[in-house]
Amino acid sequence: MSAMISNGYQSGFGNEFASEALPGTLPDGQNSPQRAAHGLYAEQLSGTAFTAPRHTNQRSWLYRIRPAAVHRPFQPWTHATFHNRFNEVPATPNQLRWNPLPLLDPPMDFVDGLVSLAGNGGADEQAGIGIHLYTANRSMQGRYFYDADAELLIVPQLGRLRLATELGVLELEPQEIAVIPRGVRFRVELVDGPAAAHGGANATGAGSAGVARGYVCENFGALLRLPELGPIGSNGLANARDFLTPHAAYEDVEGEFELIAKFQGALWSAKIDHSPLDVVGWHGNYVPYKYDLRRFNTLGSISFDHPDPSIFTVLTSPSDTPGTANVDFAIFPPRWLVAQHTFRPPWFHRNVASEFMGLIAGVYDAKAEGFLPGGASLHNCMSGHGPDAATFEKASQAELSQPDVVADTMAFMFETRKVIRPTAQAMAAPQLQSDYYQCWQGIARHFDPSRA
Ligand SMILES: [Fe+2]
Repeated sequence: MSAMISNGYQSGFGNEFASEALPGTLPDGQNSPQRAAHGLYAEQLSGTAFTAPRHTNQRSWLYRIRPAAVHRPFQPWTHATFHNRFNEVPATPNQLRWNPLPLLDPPMDFVDGLVSLAGNGGADEQAGIGIHLYTANRSMQGRYFYDADAELLIVPQLGRLRLATELGVLELEPQEIAVIPRGVRFRVELVDGPAAAHGGANATGAGSAGVARGYVCENFGALLRLPELGPIGSNGLANARDFLTPHAAYEDVEGEFELIAKFQGALWSAKIDHSPLDVVGWHGNYVPYKYDLRRFNTLGSISFDHPDPSIFTVLTSPSDTPGTANVDFAIFPPRWLVAQHTFRPPWFHRNVASEFMGLIAGVYDAKAEGFLPGGASLHNCMSGHGPDAATFEKASQAELSQPDVVADTMAFMFETRKVIRPTAQAMAAPQLQSDYYQCWQGIARHFDPSRA
């Protein structure tokens, strides 16, 4: 038996990769030889339609101990808090904000600890996203998961994770993100044991040892890709070479295991007598990857005013309408503010798109208080939002002759063309801040027709 350990990474976004954990695994000059090397089975995993245009076509060839077909029948599996029911309660135009989920007491793994907060569209529609929070205090044990509905964008906020996937191992820490393609089977392990000291105090005031927490975006639409750069040119924002895909790694173990599938918004469980993480070598471009958000080349104004926050887009899932994303994943990282005769924090606005935000670390520069690491906010289509009263007054009076720096921060946004509909449990959660609207109530009337 071999354990799943990281064999390191290959760099680049959207590359045609090749990797083998055992020399001589990959066939030479073809995909499906009469007999694959080492007694392995060849299997194709398609992430786009066979006939998708070449520049969007994604598939990988896996050479594995057993084909993915080998498992017992799936049975419906009930999960109390993880689902895609986005029509349970009316979507509200109110601005919404949630405190972080409390850290767990009973042992719970990544799948157990998923809580669905909001979403739109669905797997059947092949558009929209699901937004979920996870909290875990133990590794998945004897259990593997795949999502047939969506690729998963995982945004850790607390605790390191090891994502053992069919294509290799991704080591992940807060301020990094990972994308697991639709259908790829994986196990989530917590890297930091209960005795390990890391992270210090967290937003709830409890110790963070042995606990992981973060956000998951299920993307039902077109696969995430890098945004076009237009006049920015050939470099900048998230650079392609900073994306990391694992080298092949596999485990050869047999036992009484469980394979959990998410399929059409529901969960299913099947018995499996071996680890599905048994891919000894693979090649292709349908792959899991990770990216360190601290590598983002943040661009902004060096004269006056802000560009639209789309300048902070890390990854985008386009829709069929040009320029109108199914979802944009944007971040608000540390950055210098140098704009002159300009209100430097994010401006007040209303947006035809809908905005879900989370905070990974530090403080968000438009909200000095109330938006906590691990928390979330939702500003839906045409709902007014922007800096709170205190931030507005401070920034309106700020001295602009010197640059300012936003140093301790890492916020992110899932921005979608469709309204983001909270789940019933999100609207009933004790973490929902009933007084969020108050942050704008103190905004003073300054209007004076005689004033310049
Ligand atoms: Fe906004």
